[in-house]
Amino acid sequence: MNKVLVSLLLTLGITGMAHAAGNAEAGQSKVAVCGACHGTDGNSAAPNFPKLAGQGERYLLKQLNDIKAGSTPGAAEGVGRKVLEMTGMLDPYSEQDLADIAAYFSSQKMTVGMADPKLVKQGEKLFRGGKVDVGMPACTGCHAPNGAGVAGAAFPKLGGQHAAYTAKQLTDFREGNRTNDGDSMIMRSIAAKLSNKDIEALASYIQGLH
Ligand code: HEC
Ligand code: HEC
Repeated sequence: MNKVLVSLLLTLGITGMAHAAGNAEAGQSKVAVCGACHGTDGNSAAPNFPKLAGQGERYLLKQLNDIKAGSTPGAAEGVGRKVLEMTGMLDPYSEQDLADIAAYFSSQKMTVGMADPKLVKQGEKLFRGGKVDVGMPACTGCHAPNGAGVAGAAFPKLGGQHAAYTAKQLTDFREGNRTNDGDSMIMRSIAAKLSNKDIEALASYIQGLH
């Protein structure tokens, strides 16, 4: 079942490839306002602000469109992705601007953090093996064994990301506060099977993964 889902998503990813081509150089001149939170090169200092450097371009562009739709003042509940800190911030940007911004951050290199040695074993077990007893697939199937993701399919890179940010996303998926994983609800159904302890271990493991 999981294999079928993955190959379906890969097919969708590859056929849906026609997007506005982003220009990283043009993008660099449009991200001044983002640097305060995400870092000028997309490596944020604060752990609740996600690193964008080296993230897949397709995934970034999808998030930018989702955040623009969900974080414009007065956006309806459940539309796109709500990021309070970014309220209205993407409204002035055109589709081409967002494509350029995605290309710019994607061309940077993500720094790697460290995992808590006490949590590595449990995090690795979940990441690579999933939870067979409750039918939760391994993360590696879509996010790759080294956490690099599958850029062409818009499966995000996870390895090196701040643990606090990753833990918040998994909790948000589980609680239905982040719903932009689409009608197939891939991440919401996976996160539904994770306890708070699982999330803590996974997020820590992912922070040191490369
Ligand atoms: C005031 C701080 C702040 C500023 C300024 C800001 N962001 Fe964000 N951004 C955030 C936070 C916080 C999140 C994560 C919210 C959450 O927990 O879901 C985020 C999430 C994102 C994501 C999703 C990342 C992922 O891995 O899914 C992207 C892409 C993004 N921001 C791009 C931008 C761009 C481009 C700009 C500049 C135009 C910008 N942000 C400006 C705070 C900020
Ligand atoms: C069947 C494919 C699939 C599997 C298996 C999977 N993911 Fe995902 N994951 C996705 C997709 C697709 C997205 C992007 C959703 C979107 O477009 O917003 C995502 C997004 C995420 C994000 C948000 C990243 C960010 O930058 O905001 C995190 C964190 C995450 N997954 C963690 C995990 C973990 C941990 C596991 C294993 C327990 C896992 N995923 C298993 C497909 C998968």
